[in-house]
Amino acid sequence: MDAKDVAADLDRVIVTADEIAVKTAELAAQIDADYAGREVLLVGVLNGAVMVMSDLSRAMRSRLKMDWMAVSSYGAGTKSSGVVRILKDLTIDVLDKHVLIVEDIVDTGLTLSYLVDNLKGRGAASVEVAAMFRKPAALTTVVNVKYIGFDIPNDFVVGYGLDFNGHYRNLRDVAVLGKHMYS
Ligand code: IMP
Repeated sequence: MDAKDVAADLDRVIVTADEIAVKTAELAAQIDADYAGREVLLVGVLNGAVMVMSDLSRAMRSRLKMDWMAVSSYGAGTKSSGVVRILKDLTIDVLDKHVLIVEDIVDTGLTLSYLVDNLKGRGAASVEVAAMFRKPAALTTVVNVKYIGFDIPNDFVVGYGLDFNGHYRNLRDVAVLGKHMYS
């Protein structure tokens, strides 16, 4: 789906599919160089990170495994609840593994800071974070995101895996959702 397919729902496109593709290749090359000689375990955060995981992992040349966690932080609204719950846990044991958490977006940072601490607590050899988007103005927690795609304004965005009430995940671009859609 392209932005023109849901133009009436959107305010404006902020990052295009082409820009995401270019950035993904850059991030993959950087990650490959940093993990040279080490096997990496990519941990995708469901559901939003599905697109990032799919594109980033295929752009990488490193030997890797993938696993998934599902956590709840938003419910059905557009504001972070601050409470993180594990809805689906990993199937691979992270003990002594080099873990790279793959996230769609860092908003308040609450989800990621919880996940980083949680995975370090399980004895991972290292835990780093790759996120395609970050809203610097919304950050309330200090979280070290080693690989970041784009810093974006503090607006509610949809597309490239990011949803509103389950919709727009298949939008190729990332766009600010029109306020009339939720206010
Ligand atoms: P945080 O814990 O506040 O950093 O929120 C992280 C999670 O909230 C992300 O993984 C997304 O699933 C969701 N989220 C944050 N901002 C947005 C947004 O603008 N649109 C859609 N989902 C978002």
